[in-house]
Amino acid sequence: MKVLLTGAAGFIGFYVAKALLQQGVEVVGIDDLNDYYDPQLKRDRLGELGVLDQHFESGNYYPGENGFCFSLVRIDLQEQINAVFAQHQFDAVCHLAAQAGVRYSLENPTVYAQSNLVGFLNILEACRHNHIHHLVYASSSSVYGMSDQVPFTTDAQVDQPISLYAATKKSNELMAYTYAHLFGMYTTGLRFFTVYGPWGRPDMAPMLFAKAIKNQQPINVFNHGVMERDFTYVVDIAQGVCATLIKNPVDVPQRNPYALYNIGNNQPVSLSAFIEILEAEMNKKSIKNYLPMQPGDVVRTWADTTPLMNDYQYQPTTPLSYGIGEFVRWYQIYTQKNNNL
Ligand SMILES: NC(=O)c1ccc[n+]([C@@H]2O[C@H](COP(=O)([O-])OP(=O)(O)OC[C@H]3O[C@@H](n4cnc5c(N)ncnc54)[C@H](O)[C@@H]3O)[C@@H](O)[C@H]2O)c1
Repeated sequence: MKVLLTGAAGFIGFYVAKALLQQGVEVVGIDDLNDYYDPQLKRDRLGELGVLDQHFESGNYYPGENGFCFSLVRIDLQEQINAVFAQHQFDAVCHLAAQAGVRYSLENPTVYAQSNLVGFLNILEACRHNHIHHLVYASSSSVYGMSDQVPFTTDAQVDQPISLYAATKKSNELMAYTYAHLFGMYTTGLRFFTVYGPWGRPDMAPMLFAKAIKNQQPINVFNHGVMERDFTYVVDIAQGVCATLIKNPVDVPQRNPYALYNIGNNQPVSLSAFIEILEAEMNKKSIKNYLPMQPGDVVRTWADTTPLMNDYQYQPTTPLSYGIGEFVRWYQIYTQKNNNL
């Protein structure tokens, strides 16, 4: 099996690549390695997949070495993706590349339109013209906005996104529906719920908090800590994504070409509890700077994952304390070598 994976140098993409490779799938990655956060972290993730640092000096094609069936093409979603599709025959496409982050979408909306809307359309078009049987793509729990009907189910009405980021993700779901309807292309949208773990994103709470705790600086606790997130360990997420890619959607009973699933932990945790575990794992207390709610942020997320369990045997198993422990161990080792995080 051969899969095209966009966003392969990103946090989730890196783990999905690893999980696919472990199952003997050949992976061709696309990523522009942009500097929304430190590109060295992206390069270091790729290093774990056999793409060595010296490769980055020339061209835009990087083969994985040391027996990895992995290669990376460093391009933007708006450039030569058609050439990549023409060069390979993909059994499925996993589209994770996007401009992530709720808060940044208030500062730089244009990049969300380019990567998440135009970029997504480019992927849909390439899939359509290259007769790709199945497209799996990243949506987000942020589409639920301020909904208080918990746990969140995919049949809930989600027409009130409260950030442009969420609006682009909801738009992706609508665009995927149209392509599934018009061209019979199988599309599977996955609404990710707050993913955490080693090699995580520096703009997300675990890394921001860990950095501040390590340097004895205050952490910003929004909505005075009254917030809940359905934190989901990245390895569980990657296994779920892999399951949706490897199983032919035709083999899922009663499935339509268009499908949408939550992929979370089904166990929301308060921000305060999350911080307590982080402090315990780091063996250091935090200094808290309590702040009001931020525009664009939601109070609570909680995934109903029953449909993904039924159709793909998705079963997140990682306890939060174990996952945070793994994250802290990685963070301490990584930051000893790299001062940038
Ligand atoms: N991490 C989470 O908790 C979370 C939650 C909900 C949804 N998501 C979604 O999951 C996906 C992966 O998220 P992540 O946390 O791994 O983010 P990430 O930023 O670490 O990964 C995204 C990758 O895509 C690449 N990329 C971005 N725009 C691109 C473009 N125009 N062309 C080529 N490459 C581009 C980036 O360089 C990056 O490596 C995203 O679609 C994100 O919106 C993530």
